[in-house]
Amino acid sequence: MTLTIDLNQVHLKREGLTVLSNLNLTLSERRIGLIGNNGSGKSSLVRLLNGLLQPSQGEVQVRGQNPTQGPEAMSDQVGFIFQNPDHQLIFPTVIEELMFGLRNQGLSKADACDRAEHCLREHHRLDWAERPVHSLSEGQKQWVCIMAVLVMNPAVLILDEPFSALDLPTRRHLTDWLLGLPQQLIMISHDLEVLAAFDRVLWLEQGRVQGDGDPAAVIADYRAACSGAFTL
Ligand SMILES: Nc1ncnc2c1ncn2[C@@H]1O[C@H](COP(=O)(O)OP(=O)(O)OP(=O)(O)O)[C@@H](O)[C@H]1O
Ligand SMILES: [Mg+2]
Repeated sequence: MTLTIDLNQVHLKREGLTVLSNLNLTLSERRIGLIGNNGSGKSSLVRLLNGLLQPSQGEVQVRGQNPTQGPEAMSDQVGFIFQNPDHQLIFPTVIEELMFGLRNQGLSKADACDRAEHCLREHHRLDWAERPVHSLSEGQKQWVCIMAVLVMNPAVLILDEPFSALDLPTRRHLTDWLLGLPQQLIMISHDLEVLAAFDRVLWLEQGRVQGDGDPAAVIADYRAACSGAFTL
């Protein structure tokens, strides 16, 4: 079985507008960063990988599986952390949120509860177990989203700007944690410093690949393109 993510001649239109054009990519590196300006197509690209969006043309394969079956069928393969926690969190309490995916994976209630508590303990947040999700701050919600995906142990973790609301200590804790994981990681971020430690960075511009490869080189090109680029 192939363990890469492959995009072959992928085009995507959303509401009649071309959002991604002619993407041909093989993603095999363990830690891949995705950068680009607002609206360049980053979120759209990663949504193709778990079947939240379907390509208008071309084909996507994730570890030999076609994501057209949708996010639930892909959940063993792909864990997805949304840009906005409110798009992900649906349960009243933190522990229920963490247990949901595990129950879907076939664990008994007791095993799911044990695993969820273990995960909270590992992140020093066992005291959050019974907290109502709506009572958490935005950053705390973001952290719950990340834990709810990590606890399921998917083969590929996709994070869409996961740190935007997190404070510095939490950001550091989670960055270290994520970088130490054996899973493949695809992370969208405007925090270029974090991505410098990745294996590969992809830069999207208007739905096309503008840069791809060694993080230091791609990030330097992106910074150069951005300097003085904003005009009203
Ligand atoms: N729900 C939607 N329906 C139609 N078009 C959309 C939708 N969401 C995004 N788009 C369009 O798709 C294009 C790419 O958007 P996308 O959200 O993928 O960008 P992005 O790179 O993730 O931006 P950001 O940095 O702001 O998160 C934009 O032109 C946007 O207007
Ligand atoms: Mg986005």
